[in-house]
Amino acid sequence: MKHLFKQGEQGKPVFLLLHGTGGTEEDLLPIADMIDPKASVLSVRGQVNENGMSRFFKRLREGVFDEEDLVYRTNELYRFLDWAAEKYEFDRKHVVAIGYSNGANIAGSLLFHYKQVLLGAILFHPMVPRRGVSLPDMSNLPIFIGAGTNDPLCKPEETKDLKDLLEGAYARVHLYWENNGHQLTEAEVYEAKKWYTSI
Ligand code: MLT
Repeated sequence: MKHLFKQGEQGKPVFLLLHGTGGTEEDLLPIADMIDPKASVLSVRGQVNENGMSRFFKRLREGVFDEEDLVYRTNELYRFLDWAAEKYEFDRKHVVAIGYSNGANIAGSLLFHYKQVLLGAILFHPMVPRRGVSLPDMSNLPIFIGAGTNDPLCKPEETKDLKDLLEGAYARVHLYWENNGHQLTEAEVYEAKKWYTSI
């Protein structure tokens, strides 16, 4: 997978950065820097091309995911993390995902499909990646969700459903609302930083 890696300070986590639809592995670098400039960074480009826009998995139309591809791509990312941990010699158990929109959805899918795949997750404007599956035990896993009360893509009910599902698997979810739409705001990133420094 096309990616970039930046070595951080010893003992700090590795931020797995996952961009939104049409983004690149460069997009979330300033966000990672705001949250913890000393963390290592593994930033990945989505492998799926939708009319020239990179994504992490296919969709049938807006908001409707191609589940087969989602499962396939989630496994691909999971295996990539194993590969990257060996190549860059970081602790595989020390990965914190930071995803926005489509990137938050594949991060959510990692959590839905694999046990202990992440140390924590910051999900900006995520949706429920998949319904009707039983989730692995996420006891005490810290998750930050940033959401917009007027987000037309990730509707508030969807955000609440996601929180309920994650909490049903015993994750520790912190949900932060803004009176905004789908865009990622500086205030939201600041909240995520506050949350990250408190966990
Ligand atoms: C998705 O397809 O993952 C969501 O609709 C968000 C997005 O458009 O990236």
